[in-house]
Amino acid sequence: MRKIFVKTKNVKQMVSMLNRLRDRGEGIPGMGLIYGEPGLGKTYAITWWSAQNDAILIRSANLMSARWLLEEIVEELGEIPYNKYSDIFNQVVSQLLKTPKTIIVDEIDYLTIDSRAVETLRDIHDKTDVPIVLVGMATANKRLQRHKHLYDRLLEIIKFEPFCKQDINEIIDQLSEITFTDCAKKLLFSKTNRFRQIVKTITKAEQLAKANGIKEIDEITLKEVLTDGSIDDETDNFRNEVA
Ligand SMILES: Nc1ncnc2c1ncn2[C@@H]1O[C@H](COP(=O)(O)OP(=O)(O)O)[C@@H](O)[C@H]1O
Ligand SMILES: [Mg+2]
Repeated sequence: MRKIFVKTKNVKQMVSMLNRLRDRGEGIPGMGLIYGEPGLGKTYAITWWSAQNDAILIRSANLMSARWLLEEIVEELGEIPYNKYSDIFNQVVSQLLKTPKTIIVDEIDYLTIDSRAVETLRDIHDKTDVPIVLVGMATANKRLQRHKHLYDRLLEIIKFEPFCKQDINEIIDQLSEITFTDCAKKLLFSKTNRFRQIVKTITKAEQLAKANGIKEIDEITLKEVLTDGSIDDETDNFRNEVA
């Protein structure tokens, strides 16, 4: 399989959103939310954009406190965190005022359990004006509505949608080293709409083709690949952890 970053419809929407937040005028709140079902490529897309735009990317974790979050941000800024909470907060603020950077926080669902961490992000935004983008699961939008002061600052909210037919075609054409027939593409579209499953299916199809000298994946061959038990629906432990 080719290692290519595919610019799906979701990705294009996300890029415009992040660029708009970064380039917005003064005095306009600049927080954003990206949410959607697991496996649609959110983490991959923000990782790609962060690397291109020198953004700070934080992955939240279960039981992450406000202090822990601040320490992660300080480390991403290339500094050693001070000891006192208020000092670390000021350290983050002064660094970001000097060199503004977009902060993206993945798996925000963990932080919605303890409101202090979420409020810390809001405070950083208010003091520095840097864009802060939260990324989470399908339920993140609802969960964040509980944090009214933060929710009011969300200028842009986008949902990663399941792939359309064109997305699936582009993903297969760009990632697969073996050609899929149109019927096979159609079948894959009807069976899955998650990146992870598509990636697994392409890998299996490539292996099968190699082992059997097949030049093209047609519907029948794809059915064989899809009935392989290892390409299951996404099971997401994370979903259970934060439920
Ligand atoms: N734009 C993309 N181009 C190529 N592969 C991708 C892309 N987005 C996701 N993937 C593949 O799908 C997998 C799952 O995506 P991920 O970003 O973890 O989904 P999410 O964060 O929405 O659960 C990635 O590990 C990667 O292999
Ligand atoms: Mg993710």
